[in-house]
Amino acid sequence: MTALPKLVVGNWKMHGLREHASHLARAIAEGVRSIEGNVQTIICPPFTQLAGVHDIIDASGPTGQFFLGAQDCHTTASGPFTGDISATMLADLGTKYVILGHSERRQAHGETSQIVCKKVQAAEAAGLIPIVCVGETLAERREGRTASVLAAQIESSLTDRFTGVLAYEPVWAIGSGIIPPREELERTAALIVGLLQSHLKADDIRVPILYGGSVTASQAPSILSIGALDGVLVGSASLEAEGFLDIIRVAA
Ligand code: G3P
Repeated sequence: MTALPKLVVGNWKMHGLREHASHLARAIAEGVRSIEGNVQTIICPPFTQLAGVHDIIDASGPTGQFFLGAQDCHTTASGPFTGDISATMLADLGTKYVILGHSERRQAHGETSQIVCKKVQAAEAAGLIPIVCVGETLAERREGRTASVLAAQIESSLTDRFTGVLAYEPVWAIGSGIIPPREELERTAALIVGLLQSHLKADDIRVPILYGGSVTASQAPSILSIGALDGVLVGSASLEAEGFLDIIRVAA
């Protein structure tokens, strides 16, 4: 079986006015061109910067290594949903990936796993690759409920023949500067492999697994050396080109 490329995804969250976004995207595009290795880079700016960043990625040439992602989509393709953006609209802009079910959306917008699953279906129908986030809160971890929380999220958020990417983002690690101890992350990654196998009931689907939560260039070597992980989902460290490129270099 050929090795999957490592994936390095930058989630800009609600950051990036035009000047910063284009400056950052250009610097990343330039850096990515000089990185060799089996690695793909995806940057996910806010909706307002998607078109501009798309043009920068496009102009950087057909590397097959650098792609555009969004941070959310609606559950349906079009309709009377003021303020919402559909997966079809994202695909029309040249977006290839979409992050779904991020804990910030689950918490601040009441997104349940059932809603996430509808968004996954909409994304798949539009030809986008969903990056679905799952992860336990600090309280759930303390109560020893990580495995059951992940099992329930995976079971209810993913379609039966899910062909996207799964991102494990422990909620307590996001923006905290803390990542799980290596043995814990190895154990959880192995658990997720098993949960995906039993959810998909298919040997022919290999879902890449990412880790997200306080990833920096200095933490990346240890995270990316875990065999069950196929990449990282990076928040704040993706807002500065050199630090983000260092993470991509580690992955390559
Ligand atoms: O989706 C990425 C994320 O939530 C992690 O953010 O800032 O801890 O890297 P950060």
